Amino acid sequence: MRTAVVYYSMSGNTEYAAQKISEALGADLIRIEPEKPYPEKGFMKFLRGGRSAVTGETPKLKPVPFDADLYDRVVLASPVWASNLTPPMRTFVLENRDRLIKKRVAVLLSFSGGGADKALEKLKAFSGISDFEACAVLTDPVKRPSAENEKRLSEFIDKLK
Ligand SMILES: Cc1cc2nc3c(=O)[nH]c(=O)nc-3n(C[C@H](O)[C@H](O)[C@H](O)COP(=O)(O)O)c2cc1C
Repeated sequence: MRTAVVYYSMSGNTEYAAQKISEALGADLIRIEPEKPYPEKGFMKFLRGGRSAVTGETPKLKPVPFDADLYDRVVLASPVWASNLTPPMRTFVLENRDRLIKKRVAVLLSFSGGGADKALEKLKAFSGISDFEACAVLTDPVKRPSAENEKRLSEFIDKLK
């Protein structure tokens, strides 16, 4: 089973999980980044990012080294922004929707405590991918490490082994 872990992370929480997943599965780790970075500090961080997520923006990405033909499975890993997936992940999913629909897809979300269910429902609606092979939601695993986060992460990985 050839797997790609495709992730966006602003402050390292999702990246932490994405790295663990790719190590455990021997999967390729692919980071996506918008051409124009979002503000990472202060009030503008939440204003710009939140508005971009709510309005369904699809920011242009830096070139992504993702060749769908190489993989049977794709793990999508993203923070939750304003009860949505992050806009860069939305761009990635929409640009690759036709190919993703034919593969196994698993989803890992990192959030602070609210809106992950909504984000997943919206992902299903805009991607047309109705069935995920595995799905896990972590609560800021770097900022607030916990046994519960590690348990959810290892259960997620076990499902994909
Ligand atoms: C613009 C913005 C919007 C956010 N919206 C939510 C939200 O709706 N619900 C939530 O639980 N956390 C929200 N968060 C917090 C992040 O989802 C959370 O801290 C996540 O673990 C960050 O992942 P990262 O470190 O990989 O960037 C938001 C953060 C940002 C920057």
